[in-house]
Amino acid sequence: MLARLFLLAMMGFLFLSASMRARDERISPVNHALTKEECSACHFAFPAAMLPSASWTRLMSSLESHFGEDASLDEASVAAITKYLNSNSADSSWIGNRFSRGQTNNWPIRITETDHWLREHKNQSFKNTSSSEDIYQSDCVACHDNAVKGDFRVNDA
Ligand code: HEC
Ligand code: HEC
Repeated sequence: MLARLFLLAMMGFLFLSASMRARDERISPVNHALTKEECSACHFAFPAAMLPSASWTRLMSSLESHFGEDASLDEASVAAITKYLNSNSADSSWIGNRFSRGQTNNWPIRITETDHWLREHKNQSFKNTSSSEDIYQSDCVACHDNAVKGDFRVNDA
């Protein structure tokens, strides 16, 4: 009886961890029309779930000097986009997600400076093997073909 219970518990555990691992590869793409429109003009629309609210708030309050570009918007758009990003951010649920868990302090406004991103790419080369040119770290779609769909698996990794 005990052995059978143990077996059942183990099976449940395996199933749970397998489904969690499968989910790990997907992250909701931006599904807010205004955010998608305004925040994909210069680069792919970075998913809200990749930064915590503190970072989005900081980033959205300095759009006039956005990584050397002027990305400023009218007040109403800033408010609406900030609201969308914050309510879907990495720490919008009480347990957070893998982009917020384990990050202790100093939240950057770059996804590419979060602990999770750096961990996932620590063995990654950012040189293009055929042209020996640099690949921008922030150019997610250069390597993640299906990033816009929220799929960050890399087939030939
Ligand atoms: C030079 C290529 C390259 C660039 C540029 C790049 N990545 Fe990756 N990334 C990879 C590889 C390779 C992996 C490992 C994939 C795997 O294990 O399937 C990875 C892993 C990941 C993972 C983990 C996959 C998962 O299942 O959780 C995430 C999330 C991710 N990248 C997001 C990003 C984001 C966001 C950007 C842009 C800010 C980015 N990457 C830019 C190559 C790249
Ligand atoms: C006028 C062009 C432009 C617009 C519009 C724009 N950005 Fe950017 N964004 C940039 C540039 C340039 C960078 C820096 C790319 C680099 O060199 O790494 C950047 C970088 C970022 C990064 C950091 C990526 C990383 O390295 O992890 C985030 C996050 C970001 N933008 C969010 C947004 C959001 C949210 C919006 C919409 C409100 C937006 N951007 C609109 C030009 C733009």
